[in-house]
Amino acid sequence: MAEKFDVKSIGQESSYSPDPSYKQNAWVRDYNWTYREFLSNPDEFWGNVARELEWYKPWDKVRDWNYPYAKWFVNGKLNITYNCLDRHALGKNRNKIALIWRGEGEAGRFYTYNQLYKAVMRFANGLKKIGVKRGDCVCIYMPLVPEQIIAMLACARIGAIHNVVFAGFGAGALNFRMNDAEAKFVITADVGMRRGKALPLKIIVDEAITNAPSVERVIVLRRQEPPIELHQEIEVDFNEIMEGVEVDCKPEVMDAEDLLFYLYTSGSTGAPKGVVHTCGGYMVGVYHTMKCVFDLKEDDIYWCTADPGWITGHSYIVYGPLCAGATVFITERTPDFPDPGAWWRLIEEQCITIFYTAPTAIRMFMKLGEEWPNKYDLSSLRILGSVGEPLNPEAFEWHYQVIGKTRCPIVDTWWQTEAGMHMITTLVGEPMKPGFAGKAIPGVVADVVDKNGRPVQTGQGGFLVIKEPWPSMFRTVLKNDERYRKYWFTIPNTYTAGDLAVKDTDGYIMVLGRADDVIIVAGHNIGTAEVESALVSHRAVAEAAAIGKPDPLKGNILKAFVILRVGHTPSDKLRSELIHHVRMTLGPIAMPSEIEFVDSLPKTRSGKIMRRVLKAKELGIDPGDISTLED
Ligand code: PRX
Repeated sequence: MAEKFDVKSIGQESSYSPDPSYKQNAWVRDYNWTYREFLSNPDEFWGNVARELEWYKPWDKVRDWNYPYAKWFVNGKLNITYNCLDRHALGKNRNKIALIWRGEGEAGRFYTYNQLYKAVMRFANGLKKIGVKRGDCVCIYMPLVPEQIIAMLACARIGAIHNVVFAGFGAGALNFRMNDAEAKFVITADVGMRRGKALPLKIIVDEAITNAPSVERVIVLRRQEPPIELHQEIEVDFNEIMEGVEVDCKPEVMDAEDLLFYLYTSGSTGAPKGVVHTCGGYMVGVYHTMKCVFDLKEDDIYWCTADPGWITGHSYIVYGPLCAGATVFITERTPDFPDPGAWWRLIEEQCITIFYTAPTAIRMFMKLGEEWPNKYDLSSLRILGSVGEPLNPEAFEWHYQVIGKTRCPIVDTWWQTEAGMHMITTLVGEPMKPGFAGKAIPGVVADVVDKNGRPVQTGQGGFLVIKEPWPSMFRTVLKNDERYRKYWFTIPNTYTAGDLAVKDTDGYIMVLGRADDVIIVAGHNIGTAEVESALVSHRAVAEAAAIGKPDPLKGNILKAFVILRVGHTPSDKLRSELIHHVRMTLGPIAMPSEIEFVDSLPKTRSGKIMRRVLKAKELGIDPGDISTLED
């Protein structure tokens, strides 16, 4: 990691300062002051955040750190759904809208906090009626409908551990997750809707449970008419289990360290990891970041375009926003159906104020052209967010100019399934630097270090690490504590995130990509993200992915796969122009030796490019686990 990165070549020296009113009205008005307050007494800082929430019994100790294991809010008792629901439904926010859902066509529904509270309690009682108990694992495999969120909250209400599996996964991936988590119950739907078509889900569950001995019952939300038949022995209807149950369901009193959920994340190699999250610390972490990072205000209409099947959905569709009393918008609609104006139309119709999406979506919109967003009134937008992969400067600029009309701060949030909550970003009101996620939020200690844990100099690449435990950190990897320990022992006393990053003179962190995506060309370390960022900065390029190809002389050469923007056609001339462009941007060492024009790139369902699939195809070898591949 000794290579010197020229930060200028990947980021831009430009920085944008939002209108001063953002800072004046922000929850965190002075980043430096708040950060110093946190550092001077982390326990007091987190204790103060936790006291904004309701507990049945306060904790004896904020943090118990027994490297590499942490306990937070020791002996505190709570139920996260009390904070997501009762706290608002029984107070002044009872008639505030908690959830707005839009399906395809005319389909739509909304729930006030009081209605959501009652819906969750009734379903929780239904779950109890069919035998779900505290500590049982319930696998949720559902489309993006309100019942998916109701199911998660109902599990949490009664102390069952949910394991949400994104409904785009196939039977094999679902089967692995059910078996590994020993799920006793599965909640699913007959179909999900995608681009005007009904996608069967129940059939996938049928296949996945044939070899899942732990599964006792399957609860099915039947959306279609006439309703599909259920197999009486193990299948029950989502709505029928609520018949005759009481409305009231007292929340289980949970210990702060009791388990809240498992969520599987794909490792760069090997089987998916069951990341384990607990009740108390997770609640405090997602509440804090929801409030401070999105600078949530009473009348915001907040839209996170993720699915609850991913950590982004867990933390920033369900638990964070509801703990903070937000109005959450969700939709089953895809961005490009029935036309590429679909999402912008929703922003106009719903008067969305906070819009949180992924760079891959932004780049897709860039490719489709400005005319689509320009047809709609996006003036309700106040804050834009990004997550999942580096927001390259060109995508930042486009998001900032075309969507935010240079008014809206962009919070590029770096975090992970394991982290549970936002870790690094540029808080609303602070100067933003395109290409840089920003700094550790108050509550987090992050740095960029070499392999021995020594901080690297400004402009030098290194490993992105977290130096202190944080409340919403995962507690282990299910049935594989060794994998958990590896995160903390790769560099002693430090959590190694597996990402490469670089810091500038102001301490802003640019995330370059995964450490395992680094390509060594002629002894030089090159992050795929750098090369891709350089390619995407060319006016003809919409998306790019770079891989290393073994080469007898240089060790590796770079090959790039490129999707062109509308209006550009592949040619040898353009190929040479792109190579020249990267050479001019990054220097000769990072110049791709080969460029292939493609129409699509293999991506995980959360939008990350699976470079190892491209590489395997290129080399004619087995791509390994591709259960997270989108198509
Ligand atoms: O490589 C980083 C990238 O996504 C990884 C975590 O993936 P996952 O656990 O699926 O969670 C995604 C949603 C939080 C990280 O190790 N990543 C996430 N956010 C960013 C990012 N890379 C750069 N910038 C980000 N804002």
